[in-house]
Amino acid sequence: MYYIGIDLGTTNVKLILLDEKGQICRSFSDTYPLDFPAPGWSEQSPEDWWEAVVKGLKTLTEGIPAKEIRGIGCGGQMHGLVVLDNEDRVIRPAILWNDGRTAEEVEFLNSVVGTGHLMKETANIAFAGFTAPKLLWMRKHEPENFKRICKIMLPKDYINYKLTGMHVTDYSDAGGMLLLDVEHRDWSEEMLSLCNIRREQMPKLYESYEVVGTLLPEVAAATGLEEETTVVAGAGDNAAAAIGTGTVKDGDCNISLGTSGTLFIASDRFTSVPGGSIHAFPHATGKYHLMGCMLSAASCNMWFCDDILKAASYAEEQADISEEDLGRNHVMFLPYLMGERSPINDTNARGSFVGMRLDTTRKDMVQAVLEGVAFGLRDSLEVIKARGLKVETSGLCGGGSRSALWQKIIANVLGIPLTLPRTEEGPAYGGAMLAMVGTGLFADVPSCCEALLSLRGRVEPDPEITARYEKQYRKFRKLYPALKNFFSE
Ligand code: XUL
Repeated sequence: MYYIGIDLGTTNVKLILLDEKGQICRSFSDTYPLDFPAPGWSEQSPEDWWEAVVKGLKTLTEGIPAKEIRGIGCGGQMHGLVVLDNEDRVIRPAILWNDGRTAEEVEFLNSVVGTGHLMKETANIAFAGFTAPKLLWMRKHEPENFKRICKIMLPKDYINYKLTGMHVTDYSDAGGMLLLDVEHRDWSEEMLSLCNIRREQMPKLYESYEVVGTLLPEVAAATGLEEETTVVAGAGDNAAAAIGTGTVKDGDCNISLGTSGTLFIASDRFTSVPGGSIHAFPHATGKYHLMGCMLSAASCNMWFCDDILKAASYAEEQADISEEDLGRNHVMFLPYLMGERSPINDTNARGSFVGMRLDTTRKDMVQAVLEGVAFGLRDSLEVIKARGLKVETSGLCGGGSRSALWQKIIANVLGIPLTLPRTEEGPAYGGAMLAMVGTGLFADVPSCCEALLSLRGRVEPDPEITARYEKQYRKFRKLYPALKNFFSE
């Protein structure tokens, strides 16, 4: 039997086909456009996602008997607002997780409704990328569109809706809407009414590994799969990546270096962080997690190398950066290219290089970009540590984790060893694992992790480099407060 995992990302979709032993037998990836219709806005067309997924399902399973494809699980970019009308037409492009247009709505939610009240209702405060502020924005700026809303869903839920016809979501992703009472795993009536939303417009809630349906006949016909193929609820991409990297036990930590950068800590019990600068969401295991989210991580390196330097390869740009250079860079970089979420929650913040001299080189600036992202992760780690939680080691996954240099920088900036999972396909792998659990191949998520996952390496921090970075981090901490007013002007 085979299982399909889908990672519905921001720059592309990835699909993988796993056998029962967890071997990746085939994979597929396709890109779709990402639109920035105004500065700080970020949108995508759900129809483009669906087209890429159908192409992927067809290509991935070509030549394999359809009855051997047992289940499908999707991990998807979180928080995006997808709205359908009463004929199931997409009303407007999806407003994505890294969209910053809702500064006014966030201000209203955090200051007028109040962070204390939001924390009580949802365990979180408002951030621009979350779904509730986007609904408030739509109500004000696109009232005609808002009136037409029949169904509200998140990006991967749109894929599940197209696959099965079921309007559903899972708790891990729902937590990021600011409409869920995270602790009690149900929609908050108060938040729904604040956004003028009725419960019927919201998807039905499931655990990530629960079966939500089987394929619609037209989907089976279009992809060559069988109608009996089972679809599970899936998860937000970070929770799915946490499953795919085995981050399931109380206190386990995983860092994902994708377009965004996240520091994810599994927790057996419901927990939140006072002030809400770190998100508190349900986990795809049926339990909970805390997560710090940076809006730009591997995307900072991509932007600097591709768009600015027109570099031939990332590896080439990093080749001359040696251990001796680590913790000694006179250039610093603030990684806030799309504003920032955790922990500063500032849509106005922007990327900045600071400290350049006449002898500053291209290499120094490339290094500063990698270090700036690591310092940003450290900011979230500090909040978690202040909460009294101990993080002694972390997994590292996502596209950026392929760089041995970046691995070393992060291990030393955070001062903890990092483990590297054998598979880098975090969210897609986790999605397929959820399908294995949902279809009964494994009793639960932890036993699936136990059976399938292994490590390919470990990166230890070096006490000398860590000490050098400690000093640099203290300097980094002063930059944002010094520039905050400048950004807001
Ligand atoms: C998490 C977040 C991002 C997206 C990226 O809160 O917004 O990590 O899920 O796909």
